[in-house]
Amino acid sequence: MGWLVTGGAGYIGAHVVRAFQAAGIEATVLDDLSSGISSFVPDGVPVVRASLLDRAAVREALHGIDGVVHVAGFKYAGVSVQRPLHTYEQNVSAMVILLQEMLEAGVDKLVFSSSAATFGVPDVDLVTETTATRPESPYGESKLIGEWLLADVGRANGLQHTSLRYFNVVGSGTPELYDASPHNLFPLVFDALVNGRTPKIFGTDYDTPDGTCVRDYIHVSDLAEAHVAAAQRLAAGQEIEPIYNLGSGEGSSVRQIMDTIREVTGIDFEPELHPRRPGDPDRIVATGELAARDLGWQMRHTLQQMVASAWEARQKAGDSYPG
Ligand code: UFG
Repeated sequence: MGWLVTGGAGYIGAHVVRAFQAAGIEATVLDDLSSGISSFVPDGVPVVRASLLDRAAVREALHGIDGVVHVAGFKYAGVSVQRPLHTYEQNVSAMVILLQEMLEAGVDKLVFSSSAATFGVPDVDLVTETTATRPESPYGESKLIGEWLLADVGRANGLQHTSLRYFNVVGSGTPELYDASPHNLFPLVFDALVNGRTPKIFGTDYDTPDGTCVRDYIHVSDLAEAHVAAAQRLAAGQEIEPIYNLGSGEGSSVRQIMDTIREVTGIDFEPELHPRRPGDPDRIVATGELAARDLGWQMRHTLQQMVASAWEARQKAGDSYPG
């Protein structure tokens, strides 16, 4: 019995697996290790090494499972513009197979990893669950389609589900787990610092107080706990919203992040200033009030703790860090 965590060998999925263990709920991992790292899965947790596109493997993995946390996916919004078919295959086709096999196996509970990318460039300072979704990348579109799929399958087949829209997930809950994304701010800055290069700021002319982009940074352990709360709510048959924004209500600019990294690491650096990266919105910050009401969602970590834990994990990774 227990829950299947797709993408459970990835940075976020592995935190989710640990949160389930801490709550006394058994977890099984399904991961193709395309970006996941097998050592991220705690000892004793069964791992099915397979793609979600492998229907037979998905069917097998669903045996005796109570519910699914669907974290696996292709998550690089920028790259998705160049690779739309890959993005749709990984995020939409794979999800259709997962849902078909869940129905077949009688598994009727699903917690889905959605994204702030469903909003695109919001025209409000603080987005809520009712803010219009206008995704600007195949990635954001594919996540929105995932949400629609769940709504439709919920209506037609009684699937119990919720979608958690992640904002900017950072930090580490344990030094063994690091974010090795080649496209996000924290790993890129750390990579530069570790390799003696200068971190870069992309764009200083945004319509924000210091000209750099403002984002809503949340700690991965807080995020992981929200998945457990959602799963427990589904398991208890309690009412649940179809969508929750996992945001903090607070924005930090890229410059503020650089200042915090300088302070926490003790490495003195002056970032290089570069032109804007295409497609970056000025600001995207969300209220997490709905999730606080239903999922016990709260910021248990400060920005300093997010940076410090992520930096510790990055340093500990040493030579095993990919790339
Ligand atoms: N940035 C830099 N320098 C870098 C890397 C990033 O200045 O070396 C800036 C970006 O331009 C952006 C900010 O740091 O302004 C944050 O960038 P990230 O790539 O870390 O995060 P994004 O906000 O672009 O993307 C995140 C998730 C995506 C998701 C998106 C939705 O990583 O998966 O939020 O808004 F699609």
